[in-house]
Amino acid sequence: MTIHAQTPGYRADDTMPPLAPSAFRDALGHFATGITVMTTLDDEEGRYGVTATSFSSLSLDPPLVQWSLRNAAYSLPIFQRSRHFAVNILAADQEAISRRFATRGVDRFANLEVEQGLAEMPLIGGAAAWIECALETTLPGGDHTILVGRVLRARTFSKPPLLHWRGDYLPIKNDPRVSGGAA
Ligand SMILES: Cc1cc2nc3c(=O)[nH]c(=O)nc-3n(C[C@H](O)[C@H](O)[C@H](O)COP(=O)(O)O)c2cc1C
Repeated sequence: MTIHAQTPGYRADDTMPPLAPSAFRDALGHFATGITVMTTLDDEEGRYGVTATSFSSLSLDPPLVQWSLRNAAYSLPIFQRSRHFAVNILAADQEAISRRFATRGVDRFANLEVEQGLAEMPLIGGAAAWIECALETTLPGGDHTILVGRVLRARTFSKPPLLHWRGDYLPIKNDPRVSGGAA
């Protein structure tokens, strides 16, 4: 066990000890996630996308999902003014796409197979799933903004997912639930 910020004699009713940022980040990294690329179509920028692991389900009825984007991100105003976004849940063989959509100054859609979704949203070919959303609301979340989407359509493909754990991509073993499992 790694204890990052131990305060000897700390009791719950004491003033909270300072949280070490590295401990916080490290603990978050222990939560394994899938990887999404959030895509949208913007009047000014055209099709746009960013890699995000902050995605999660929010509500079944109504069907809502959420993710968060750094307030300082170039893409935040784009996603705020777009009325729709699509969640592309990446497949195990799409690590390069994950890296590309987190890199500035490159053509993120170059040579990508893209399908047109609802409201002309770009959907990345070869993904494990697509979840097309209308932007329901945005909420403040510290140095991030939370984007809530109302799910309009969801489609899945028989592909194993790309996983992320402790700051790195995680290989996935073949699983009987998916055909053509990752190498
Ligand atoms: C695996 C991975 C997950 C990421 N998840 C998020 C996220 O959930 N929210 C976020 O704001 N940035 C996240 N990022 C960083 C953005 O993808 C990156 O800052 C990107 O450049 C944002 O696009 P923009 O510069 O066009 O705004 C992640 C990056 C990687 C590699």
